[in-house]
Amino acid sequence: EKATRKYTVRPGLFRVFRYLERLADVWSVQSSAMKNIVVLISGRGSNLEAVLSVAEAERWRETLQAAVVAVISNRRDAAGLTIARRFGIATTIIEHTAFASREAFDAALAAEIDRHDPAVVLLAGFMRVLTKDFVHHYAGRLVNIHPSLLPLFPGLRTHRQALAAGVRVHGATVHFVSDAVDAGGIIAQAVVSVRPSDDEAALAARVLEQEHRLLPHALRLLLEQRVAYVDGHVVVRDCGAPDLALQSA
Ligand code: GAR
Repeated sequence: EKATRKYTVRPGLFRVFRYLERLADVWSVQSSAMKNIVVLISGRGSNLEAVLSVAEAERWRETLQAAVVAVISNRRDAAGLTIARRFGIATTIIEHTAFASREAFDAALAAEIDRHDPAVVLLAGFMRVLTKDFVHHYAGRLVNIHPSLLPLFPGLRTHRQALAAGVRVHGATVHFVSDAVDAGGIIAQAVVSVRPSDDEAALAARVLEQEHRLLPHALRLLLEQRVAYVDGHVVVRDCGAPDLALQSA
């Protein structure tokens, strides 16, 4: 009986040690050196602007040793490119239409991103489905903002989906990216009440306002190492409910 126990307990302990080791790695890697943030966009760039404004106002370079160092767009006409330039951030355009396959586009995108040795790759309205290889390459560093309370309403027209479902609360989610579209470990969410008078545009506007609070906030949690993604699980330390679930009127 003793012999059996020896062999059942040890693999379990080993797994716990491996996990703690990985956790220590994550915290220590993130606490060294300057943390570069690369932002991917496809359009308007209002979330990018929110991050850049807060990073500037709060002097993230000094206070968090973090900075947005590059903005990459898959669309030449993305208005967000103008915002990036206004903040003096380097911009690159990699049009997905120039590539024969999703794999080829993602490989070119990753090559450009990796020039910046990023601690965080932020999808801020980047409207492309990413390949498994790409997502795995940036595991724990790839973060997305989505305009719904995931796992409800992945995909497009989330506000229309929310109104059609008749939910009384709606909102936005910032999450680590996993293989599936609009899925992965949740970092933080912002909750918005749905009003009886709401149409798609009115609801979208109130959610967007919250996205602009939520995204810099969630990034800060990540940069302060209060949230990490270890083996597909979100690990949180020194965070209360108000940090992880922002409420709006
Ligand atoms: C934002 O509402 C963002 O949550 C959404 O696209 C919009 C981009 O706006 N992202 C997704 O739907 C991802 N599935 P922005 O360019 O003004 O930041």
